[in-house]
Amino acid sequence: MDYFKKKKIKDILQKNITSYQDITVLGWVKTKRVSKNIAFLELNDGSTVKNLQIVILNPSDFELEEINRGASLKIKGYLEDVPNREQSIEMKAEEIKIIGKAPENYVLQKKKHTFEFLREIAHLRPRTKTFSTVNRFRNKIAYAIHKYYQEKGFQYIHSPIITASDAEGAGEMFKVTTLDFDNLPKNEQNKVDYQEDFFNEQTGLTVSGQLEAEVMATALGDVYTFGPTFRAENSNTSRHASEFWMMEPEMAFCNLEEMMDVIEDFIKYLFKYALDEANEEMAFFGKNIEEGRKETLKKIINSTFARITYTKAVDILSKADQEFEFPVEWGMDLQTEHERYLTEEHYNKPVLVTDYPKEIKAFYMRINDDDKTVAAVDCLVPEVGEIIGGSQREERYDILKERMEKEGMNLTKYEWFLDLRKYGSVPHSGFGLGFERILMYISGIKNIRDVIPFPRTPGNAKF
Ligand code: 4AD
Repeated sequence: MDYFKKKKIKDILQKNITSYQDITVLGWVKTKRVSKNIAFLELNDGSTVKNLQIVILNPSDFELEEINRGASLKIKGYLEDVPNREQSIEMKAEEIKIIGKAPENYVLQKKKHTFEFLREIAHLRPRTKTFSTVNRFRNKIAYAIHKYYQEKGFQYIHSPIITASDAEGAGEMFKVTTLDFDNLPKNEQNKVDYQEDFFNEQTGLTVSGQLEAEVMATALGDVYTFGPTFRAENSNTSRHASEFWMMEPEMAFCNLEEMMDVIEDFIKYLFKYALDEANEEMAFFGKNIEEGRKETLKKIINSTFARITYTKAVDILSKADQEFEFPVEWGMDLQTEHERYLTEEHYNKPVLVTDYPKEIKAFYMRINDDDKTVAAVDCLVPEVGEIIGGSQREERYDILKERMEKEGMNLTKYEWFLDLRKYGSVPHSGFGLGFERILMYISGIKNIRDVIPFPRTPGNAKF
């Protein structure tokens, strides 16, 4: 069959078709009802959460007993308008071909399964209404990210997955090696000799594409990465994954203030895109995940994000009429409970917190004139907490070198990074958006494991 002749159920239901005759659909059976003179099948092909009703006027001519929920079918027939029904179009079947049968013990029967159970069958959960919707939504928001940056003239660049650089300097890299663990080569200090390893040095999976994005930004101007990143942090929370997707814009000739304008504009764009272009998904989330999501997003689109310094945040928190598990003092990293207080209780909207103490932030962030804080920014949103982390980068060669030395970094290894500050250095800034975190926020889904098709978390890398 001509590939382009088959019709998507979404297009049929939206009547986005040129003819009602000679229609072919392919999909999976959701329900079957058979009586003597008429039978109905609900067919879904993954293009929409909605099913197409297939009407069989002469059931005895077909082997309907062979067809169970989950079976895949090819159906030929014609379409008819059916006024005054929820779906105003249906298909009358003329030919039904079973492509793949499904036995009656197919696990996805018509009943509600818990999210926990569905995680155990991640190979089948995309067939449920919830997870097919989540994946269509993920696709749409990924597209929106590209659309936003492409329209703004950013270049999409590709940072490596395997790298010898720990971009965050936090020691959370998964190792990549071909060494034989049962027979590790040792050097003179009796340490593992990575010179014997595949890349002749110690490598791992990237924790962020930022350092390479800086390379590209200082050549191409405005760039962005969007790809998988990996963290071997043992955080078993509903917001942390060991493999997650991050989108990282990096902008040459851009300071922290200017970048915060980009952050705010970008987040609002994604919310607006979800409301305008992902109607079906937003309606589904509103009905099945959390009511009032759309209104929350609309409110944020019309608001101005709060912008406060870390010092101000600490001041607000120390005056809060709430007991925190971790008492607040200047110099500490803000914990989730603090972030949530700021964005949920105090401001009740997204908050951009800037100028954190240098001791708690990464080596590449620009040191402020007070010599105590760095030009960092975190974007906090209600319920999810931090969705963005970014900074203006240290563009001054001597200061960066000194900071890296103080942090005990191997300067020969990062000579290329310092070189960017040697030849035509420019103020530049960038940030990272956790893709799953923004999906959680827009959809209202509470666990990161349910917005990524195959979650990798401590103790779990199945599928
Ligand atoms: O704040 P992070 O660690 O920043 C960076 O990696 C910078 N290099 C980004 C940059 O400036 N280009 O991470 C950025 C965002 C966080 O705000 C969070 O949304 C997400 O990535 N993130 C995670 N998401 C899921 N699971 C994890 N374990 C995450 N760790 C960070």
